[in-house]
Amino acid sequence: MPRIPPTARKGLLTLHLVTSLGWLGADLVLLTLGIAVQRGADPAVLYPVGALVGTVLFAPLSVLVWLIGVASALLTPWGLLRYRWVVVKLVLTTVMVGLVLFLLTPNLRHAGALGAALPARDRADLVIAPAVSTSLMIIATVLSTYKPWGRRRAAQPALAGHARNR
Ligand code: HEM
Repeated sequence: MPRIPPTARKGLLTLHLVTSLGWLGADLVLLTLGIAVQRGADPAVLYPVGALVGTVLFAPLSVLVWLIGVASALLTPWGLLRYRWVVVKLVLTTVMVGLVLFLLTPNLRHAGALGAALPARDRADLVIAPAVSTSLMIIATVLSTYKPWGRRRAAQPALAGHARNR
């Protein structure tokens, strides 16, 4: 994959940070809404807000985070499969994007449509799912800053050192 000039790389990293940490922020909003309902706030008001946040912000952001994350790996010396911390982030994010698009977003829409009629078990899911994904995103953030575990054995040694631009 082609390397990109330093200015473009900074621009890509800025995009990656804005989208991925924005994604974390949107997730915290969903968690707050879910907890607020459990603590007695009106589900007829808050669940439609959650459905809106999920549909227009959280779901589209999840796709953007994945695309820009993959580009950030492929267009820099980190590579997509060269370093363990990048591979773990790729797997975590891919699983999360699947869950967000195929499970959480439909559930948020369902809750938005039902409001106060949503059963208690489904209400608990609207706290558990954002709590789990928020934790995974915090793990992804910590992996990004500490960059642990080094290179994968299969990665080419000739490229060692190129990515030490932290
Ligand atoms: C497809 C998934 C992802 C991949 C492949 C990926 C890959 C990368 C790569 C290669 C970098 C280094 C970029 C550079 O040096 O120019 C980076 C930086 C970073 N990523 Fe990701 N990322 C992904 C998802 C995420 C997620 C979900 C989060 C947080 C919610 C996140 C947070 C960060 C942060 C905070 C940095 C900056 C680290 C630093 O500059 O020290 N990334 N990512």
